[in-house]
Amino acid sequence: MCGIIGFVGKEQAAPILLDGLRRLEYRGYDSAGIAVCGEDGLRVKKARGRLQVLSDLTHAGADLPGVLGIGHTRWATHGEPNDVNAHPHVSQSGKIAVVHNGIIENYAELKGQLIAKGYTFRSETDTEVVAQLLDYYYADCQDFFEAMTRVLNAVEGAYALGIVCADYPDRMIAARKDAPLLLGYSENGSFIASDVTALIRHTRDIAYMDDGEMAVLSAGGIRVYDRLMRPVEKEHHHIDWDVDAAEKGGYDHFMLKEILEQPEAIRKATAARIQEGRVVLSDLAMTEEEIRSIGKIYIIACGSSYHVGMVGKYNLERMLRRTVEVCLASEFRYSDPIVGEGDLVIVISQSGETLDTMAALREAKKRGARILSIVNVVGSSIARESDDVLYTWAGPEIAVATTKAYSTQMAVLNLVGLYFGDIMGTVSYETYTAMVRDMQQLPEKMEKVLKDTEAIHALAKECADKEDVFFIGRNLDYALSLEGSLKLKEISYIHSEAYASGELKHGTISLIEDGTLVIALSTYEPLFDKAMSNVVEVQARGAKVLALTTEKHAADLAQRVPMVLSVPEVQQMLLPQLGVLPLQLLAYYIALERGCDIDKPRNLAKSVTVE
Ligand code: G6P
Repeated sequence: MCGIIGFVGKEQAAPILLDGLRRLEYRGYDSAGIAVCGEDGLRVKKARGRLQVLSDLTHAGADLPGVLGIGHTRWATHGEPNDVNAHPHVSQSGKIAVVHNGIIENYAELKGQLIAKGYTFRSETDTEVVAQLLDYYYADCQDFFEAMTRVLNAVEGAYALGIVCADYPDRMIAARKDAPLLLGYSENGSFIASDVTALIRHTRDIAYMDDGEMAVLSAGGIRVYDRLMRPVEKEHHHIDWDVDAAEKGGYDHFMLKEILEQPEAIRKATAARIQEGRVVLSDLAMTEEEIRSIGKIYIIACGSSYHVGMVGKYNLERMLRRTVEVCLASEFRYSDPIVGEGDLVIVISQSGETLDTMAALREAKKRGARILSIVNVVGSSIARESDDVLYTWAGPEIAVATTKAYSTQMAVLNLVGLYFGDIMGTVSYETYTAMVRDMQQLPEKMEKVLKDTEAIHALAKECADKEDVFFIGRNLDYALSLEGSLKLKEISYIHSEAYASGELKHGTISLIEDGTLVIALSTYEPLFDKAMSNVVEVQARGAKVLALTTEKHAADLAQRVPMVLSVPEVQQMLLPQLGVLPLQLLAYYIALERGCDIDKPRNLAKSVTVE
């Protein structure tokens, strides 16, 4: 999704903006631009394609003197990706430049009104309307800040805005509603950014803007106002992320680095939460009484976070004996959901900013449900609007395709199951102790799986020329197959689908022909024999099978199918924690063989902050 960076201070802005944009690249983008206010007024450079094009165009920013500027990476929503539609957008007078993340929903109506008043629009974007409307109000009242408040009253939709005006070469304006934006404070100046990765080289002192707030930034500090223009004291947060964690550190891709970081991420997410053999969730505000009285449980999320929810459904129902419904946030929000007081809604989100997930959270909250979120980005919108938050502590995840966030979300959800199950009295002593023991051993077992990357690479070479791949599995293997399939399609662009094995006969089997690749997940012991029947069925129709199983069955399976991957034995509810690793690596190496842009797959964004 679009990324914003802005700076006003004591240094030349352009190189800082380009560096910030480079760190926001992972969010996904198709064009980029910067606007700088210098002695000779406002200068804007924009370019379609990779940031390097913009950097070359400006000689790494050297061509644009000035200490005030805004930058943007655009992920097209309104209008195709090209130089004209790239941000910043400049008003007709040439004085005002705007960068925007979000969607102005009433832009067509506002655009019509401005055209009637003589304004000419250059781009097809919704954002340009903000620049032109501000220009119009500014010309009318001659007070930039007054004009800005009028604009915010007129526009509908979601926005994070960064704005500069040539008449105020020492000031930047920012505003936020339903799109992430944070403020950075440093001795060298003041920043705005879509997320902290853009800032950690410059400052670790940040504040999150809230909906309806407007900020005025200068070299000396930042003033923030609420909707009624009353000054607001912002709470400052210290970011302790390691700068290296946001760098590739010698790996070819962030995705590979993040796959290999998973054992450590799981250690961080779980170690402090397991004390003397017991799960301790001291970051939960819920009382034992409240936990015992939970009625129905909903898990709401998008993408891979939704797939964590699918695993969670099987595990939580087992541990809590409560109905767990897993919902896609984009569907839940418009479904007039039957959710209310006494229900627990578990919201899962890496970024904490996914718009649909946020909207679903608000819908559930409005109806009286209690919200517990599992989030990676500290202080993000979803975290802040939840009744309880459990952070995954996975550190920054840069590759668009999630890996370590998925794994840590799953670990935290399992901890929730154990903690609640213990209080509710629904999880047996044997299961509880085996789960706790195996969760503590998970990092080592994960390391073991991740050691053999070369074997997986070799299999990937055999699979890289396929154009259709089917993932099949039952129960937890089915939940895992959804993620395996998504990983493969998002980074390798191979058409892939995941099926509950029992559904094969109801249609999909007609697609199996000679050489079709079927990835048969067969880690779930209670249904191993059933999984084998499905393997036989697809092989009989010519499928080439790659089976993922546990070490115990590996030798036997190697006699039956041409390709086998295995993971160590572990408490069965934890099998997806190990099983996902070879699937991530398989997708990674297949994409590598196909020469794909692994960290930034086409058309995808890391953080989906539009509907
Ligand atoms: C995008 C990302 C996925 C992620 C999904 C939900 O599609 O590419 O990796 O699973 O959004 O994001 P969230 O931040 O809410 O987990």
